[in-house]
Amino acid sequence: MSSAQRKDDHVRLAAEQQRAHGGRNQFDDVSFVHHALAGIDRPDVRLATTFAGISWQVPLYINAMTGGSAKTGAINRDLAVAARETGTAIASGSMHAYFRDPSCADTFRVLRAENPDGFVMANVNATASVDNARRAVDLLEANALQIHLNTAQETPMPEGDRSFGSWPAQIARITAAVDVPVIVKEVGNGLSRQTLLALPDLGVRVADVSGRGGTDFARIENSRRALGDYAFLHDWGQSTPACLLDARDAGLPLLASGGIRNPLDAARALALGAVAVGSSGVFLRTLIDGGVPDLITQISTWLDQLAALQTMLGARTPADLTRCDVLIHGELRSFCTDRGID
Ligand code: FNR
Repeated sequence: MSSAQRKDDHVRLAAEQQRAHGGRNQFDDVSFVHHALAGIDRPDVRLATTFAGISWQVPLYINAMTGGSAKTGAINRDLAVAARETGTAIASGSMHAYFRDPSCADTFRVLRAENPDGFVMANVNATASVDNARRAVDLLEANALQIHLNTAQETPMPEGDRSFGSWPAQIARITAAVDVPVIVKEVGNGLSRQTLLALPDLGVRVADVSGRGGTDFARIENSRRALGDYAFLHDWGQSTPACLLDARDAGLPLLASGGIRNPLDAARALALGAVAVGSSGVFLRTLIDGGVPDLITQISTWLDQLAALQTMLGARTPADLTRCDVLIHGELRSFCTDRGID
């Protein structure tokens, strides 16, 4: 199986997963207490967010997906256009295909070519050499570097890596060597409090909890196997709201991705302490089914509706949402009880 074929499979299967599921997740266990006199004036609402010396116009980003094949290069071009038109930050998919075969560089570089002034994040895994991490940043003239952690994806992947022990030390080497902020992210199984607490000592400036509730890579990898015998890894890990609650004062700013389905989920994640909110699977599906115009409309609508929610809830800024009264129900409430979270 070539790496280009795997990239194409991931895109196809992730979009199918959105069409098949896209239903309930633990964000449904988070609700805002409605205060009818809390509202403010829409012109007083701002969407800008600042964290770890990074300033974004809006608290929404297109999270890491793809690159490395002709098809995924075209997807990256479309995603970059949508990011440019909506002012959202954007991340590349894993750039290891480029390290193996530099002839696919343009399928990644397009993220910068189409979006010269935007906030662009390069993406590598925790085994990348320091040189390759620097090459990834250089290729995209990236503003930040994402390092993804994906043990629950590698495990069912036929060609997957099984050596995870070197990851912490390699993350520390990369953060010491690159001159942009490093963001450590999961890929849909969540970052626990224990993991988050380890990151600042490795030089990591920001974490993206990327929890369960949306794209499920164990499910995707399983459906690429003749024998789907890792089915027990489906739904592995903690949901995104559970990660945010578990984090408490983890000591670094948190991005939230994994199962963000709509602007209400974005507001919920911000209320639980995220500094910005990312989406991959939902945006990919929109792009594949409706093209760039539909994706631009979707992102613009989400931003407009997030501002509308902030107006109702009396939150002048995304950070003000953390002061709103939130109720936690159901499974998420049980998670909090089990973890000793008030
Ligand atoms: C991803 N994701 C991902 N993450 C990463 O760090 N490097 C990567 O190369 C990829 N590749 C990738 C491909 C496709 C097709 C999808 C849909 C996703 C994971 C992504 O960034 C995110 O963490 C998860 O998808 C969870 O968010 P959603 O999809 O539930 O919004």
